[in-house]
This record gives sequence, C-alpha cells and structure tokens, in this order.
Amino acid sequence: MARRRQLYEGKAKILFEGPEPGTIVQYFKDDATAGNGAKKGIITGKGVLNNRISEHLMLRLHDIGIPTHFIRRLNMREQLVREVEIIPLEVVVRNIAAGSLAKRLGIPEGTRLPRSIIEYYYKNDSLNDPMVSEEHITAFGWANVQDLDDMAALALRTNDFLMGVFIGVGIQLVDFKLEFGRQWENEDMRIVLADEISPDNCRLWDAKTSEKLDKDRFRRDLGKVEEAYQEVARRLGILPEAGNGDMKGPEVMQ
Ligand code: TMP
Repeated sequence: MARRRQLYEGKAKILFEGPEPGTIVQYFKDDATAGNGAKKGIITGKGVLNNRISEHLMLRLHDIGIPTHFIRRLNMREQLVREVEIIPLEVVVRNIAAGSLAKRLGIPEGTRLPRSIIEYYYKNDSLNDPMVSEEHITAFGWANVQDLDDMAALALRTNDFLMGVFIGVGIQLVDFKLEFGRQWENEDMRIVLADEISPDNCRLWDAKTSEKLDKDRFRRDLGKVEEAYQEVARRLGILPEAGNGDMKGPEVMQ
C-alpha cells in the first residue's frame, strides 16, 4: 500500500492524510491509557471494535440530523472522516454520578443526577485536561458563546438519543465525552461531532446488574476488558464481520 503522511499520533488513534483534500483517515489502535498516560496497556481487538461501534453510533446520530465528521469506514481499523478544526474542549455529559464527579463532590457512584449535566475540560495533556467554566472558554477564545450554545444543544440531543439506543439493548449510559470541530464551507462554519464514540469514552453499565462494560474495567483493573467491549458491540448487533479477522492488529513477520 502507498505510504501515507501521518498527521498525528494520539493515545488511541493515529491520523493520516486522507485520499482527497479535506479528509483524514482515523486508524484505531489497541493501545489503552488511563490517568493521562500514567497507566498503559493493550486491549486486544479494541481498535477493531471501537471503529465499528463509533461508525454505528455516528451513522445513527447523522440519521437524526446531528452533523458529524464521519464519512465512511474503510476497513477493520480505519475510517474516513472530514478534516475539521478541533475545538480544544472535552465535553462531558453525565446522567449518573461516577468517576471524577462522584469523587470531587462526594456523591456515591450510581446516584441518578437530578438532570443531565454538561461539563467542559480544556484539552491539554501537560495540564491534565483541567475542568473549565464557560467564562474561561469564552475569555480565552477557545469557543464563543454561539459555539457553546451549539455544542451544548448537540451534546444534549446526542445524550437523549444514545440513552435510548443503549437502554434498548439493556445498557445504562452513565456518562460520556464528546469532542467537536469546526467545519468550514467557504465563509460558512458549522460545528460537528468529531473524534469517536466508543466504550473508551463512555461509561456503560449493564441495566440489570450494573456490571461495567467500558474502559473503567481497564482503569480499575477489573479484568475481562476485551469481553466487555465485545459485549457492547454484540448487543448493538455489530460484531466485526470477519470473526477474528484482524482482531490482533498488524503483526511483524519473522
Ligand atoms: P471522568 O468521570 O473521569 O471525568 O470521565 C467522564 C467521562 O468522560 C467518562 O465516560 C470517561 C470520559 N473521559 C474521556 O473520554 N477522556 C478523558 O480524558 C477523561 C478524563 C474522561
């Protein structure tokens, strides 16, 4: 295959220049990190599953009118997306107390929140992605008031829709993280959903048993991490087509 220009390597994905101008190829790795890289590991087959799960959810969101950067899946580990100007924020939506909110505010994990809550974190690894307010965001110019309105509306619509999708397959959507980008067409700009939506950036609990079916299994050393990602894909009806085709990812030939 022709060599492609690598644009960026993140913790879970590599971005390559796409085949046409204004496109990017997202390659999904099996690498997993937690605590901003403090803990590292491999979740075998994660890249394949996240590529499929994210494709499925982005397509369904597109179907209800939520603009996304997703164009099409290319193969087991890659998808073609539109190039966007990433807004340097992690937008977290929470329905049930867990993780950093439970810890920061002393609310027991599993407590249903009085309403869905949106939080913003500034994407900056060297600062450990600090939580920021809307005042910080507009004052420092990461996004303006209109951008924030658009992101909040899209995040809440995404939450409503995904809660329904997941509860339909016996899973509670506890919380999740979204990223947004600006897509320019001549002088016009619109904000679209970017990055990925997968068990790497959602908390998903079995609706009956509250068993964790997401990256917390890796973060908290609970074991059966691969199985949990597979279970999410299985319940969504999208296990990879080729069985164990490329679950292990590229291997070096001896
Ligand atoms: P938190 O409870 O650790 O703040 O995480 C909230 C949600 O955001 C959870 O579903 C995991 C996701 N998340 C990411 O995707 N990336 C991150 O860097 C962090 C801190 C959280």
